[in-house]
Amino acid sequence: MATGPAVQFDAVKGHALRAVGNLLNSRERIAAGLGLPTGALQQRTINAIAQGLQPRRVATGPCQEIGVDAPDLVRELPAPHFFPQETGAYITAGVIVALDRVTGRGNASYARLKLLGGDRAMVGIAPNHHLAVLARAAHARGDKLEIAVTIGNHPAVLIAATLYLRLGDDELETAGALLGEALETVRCQTVSLDVPAHCEIVLEGTLDLDEQHEEQLVSEYHGIYEPYGSGPVARFTRLTRRSDALFQVIQPGYYPEHTLIGGVAIAAGLAQTLRAAAVPVREVAVGHGGCGRLDAVVSLGAHRPGEPRKAMFAIWGHVNLIKNITVVDEDVDPWDAAQVAWAVAKRMRADRDLLIVPGARTDRSEPIKQDGVIAKMGMDATRRQADRPDWTRALPPPEVMQRVAARREALE
Ligand SMILES: Cc1cc2nc3c(=O)[nH]c(=O)nc-3n(C[C@H](O)[C@H](O)[C@H](O)COP(=O)(O)O)c2cc1C
Repeated sequence: MATGPAVQFDAVKGHALRAVGNLLNSRERIAAGLGLPTGALQQRTINAIAQGLQPRRVATGPCQEIGVDAPDLVRELPAPHFFPQETGAYITAGVIVALDRVTGRGNASYARLKLLGGDRAMVGIAPNHHLAVLARAAHARGDKLEIAVTIGNHPAVLIAATLYLRLGDDELETAGALLGEALETVRCQTVSLDVPAHCEIVLEGTLDLDEQHEEQLVSEYHGIYEPYGSGPVARFTRLTRRSDALFQVIQPGYYPEHTLIGGVAIAAGLAQTLRAAAVPVREVAVGHGGCGRLDAVVSLGAHRPGEPRKAMFAIWGHVNLIKNITVVDEDVDPWDAAQVAWAVAKRMRADRDLLIVPGARTDRSEPIKQDGVIAKMGMDATRRQADRPDWTRALPPPEVMQRVAARREALE
């Protein structure tokens, strides 16, 4: 697991730009990037989803200090070729901004870009993502979809862009609410879109569903290659950037920055869904072990019989990707895999607490789906009074532990 330090490459052979990577590879780093203690991250994200804050357009921004027309992307960007069975170099930290021409609302989400030479790149978008919906709507009107790929964004934008919001909800508004102030945007120079003014690099162009590229194999968050087939090609009219731009790389595949940026955002969205369904949720985790996509752990506060199962069905109904759900009590940190295993070992009776739902619809990225469906599994690992009269945890007296902690602190 690449939990190491953030890395910066100052001299990339054949490139003027420097590259950075491995920035947000833990929840602690993501929270720090937002100026928050880790424990406050989920609630802050839930509030941001609910509130939103309109971006504020400014006249100029650092992301437009330099401009290049019809950019040769391979030459301009130090984009890595990551894995041996992939067939090209990829931009992996590109947050793509687009606009719904009907509602006038914006969208911002990640999609990988495979560089094809010159000003062309294939954009790999799951068909159910809103960016794909906007591209199909533009195509139905006989248009190409204007897009702006923004690279090197603030963590608030990076988290907001991976939230599952409703179609028409603008992730840049959520990014502003996460930041605590309106996100400053600038107008692009060759397309009618506003982009984060303080990002490092912007690629302005159009996405054409009529021009397709066969991607062949691509790595997924679960660590295996997927053959997704063909994807639409974008052509870029202009590249703008900071004069000292850093090219951000998010290591794709089963690596914690990729899994956790998604996992943190998906978990917050699920917690919000459960609150809306009146489930007494404390925190939801979608951690690295479950690839930041496939497994969720729900920690409930005091709850009534049946609420763990209600939580499971609400989550499956909300996010296709989630396959396995474990429900634990409030004394278990859902992000701590050992604590979750401890709760399952101690509190779950498989004949009663295991729920298997065969034949449920899943996402195209599910590694072992068949005909688009998979069995979903729920484990209720919460305490039951009927199982034993006393669940008291055997722990040393708190005052002794406090004295030990104070002594240790004095010795350090
Ligand atoms: C680092 C990272 C890379 C991602 N790459 C892709 C991708 O290549 N294709 C894709 O469809 N989704 C990708 N995603 C997931 C989408 O960004 C995410 O599902 C988003 O919510 C979709 O938003 P939309 O429905 O508004 O378009 C990625 C997420 C992360 C965190």
